[in-house]
Amino acid sequence: MKVALAADHAGFPLKEAAREYLQEKGFAVEDFGTYSDDPVDYPDLAVAAARAVQRGECALGILFCGTGIGVAIAANKLRGIRAACCTDCYSAACAREHNDANILTLGARVIGSGLAMKIIAVFLQTSFAGGRHRGRLAKIKALEEEGSYNSANKFKL
Ligand code: RB5
Repeated sequence: MKVALAADHAGFPLKEAAREYLQEKGFAVEDFGTYSDDPVDYPDLAVAAARAVQRGECALGILFCGTGIGVAIAANKLRGIRAACCTDCYSAACAREHNDANILTLGARVIGSGLAMKIIAVFLQTSFAGGRHRGRLAKIKALEEEGSYNSANKFKL
């Protein structure tokens, strides 16, 4: 599985740690930058990596900024991208199981490296559960197609 990575200057040190961690675990990694702590604009980096996920060149992506929020907002503007900002392992598991999130975002000014690597491990090891969640994801997909959202379709649990 190939994983796309990207960070702004605030997320840069955590991206570096994540790249080493993933390579140690045998994952193929594509690093879209940034490559130093010189200030950059997080949407530029987030979109570069998210496009690789959108095009299917990378199976999943992990984005880093100060809070994890800016890169999530930017990535979620792209059709087919479901980016989840997580600060705990339970949310990371549910982001995959329930939401079929294809991008994890992490805040380097919010969580430490140890917790970040655990969250990454859980995110990458967890699969989409399918079932009742499919209909909900179909509604999210419908939001990407102007006018095709139908709230009358109900899915239990
Ligand atoms: C950069 O200072 C900071 O705004 C950015 O890394 C991120 O936290 C934005 O959401």
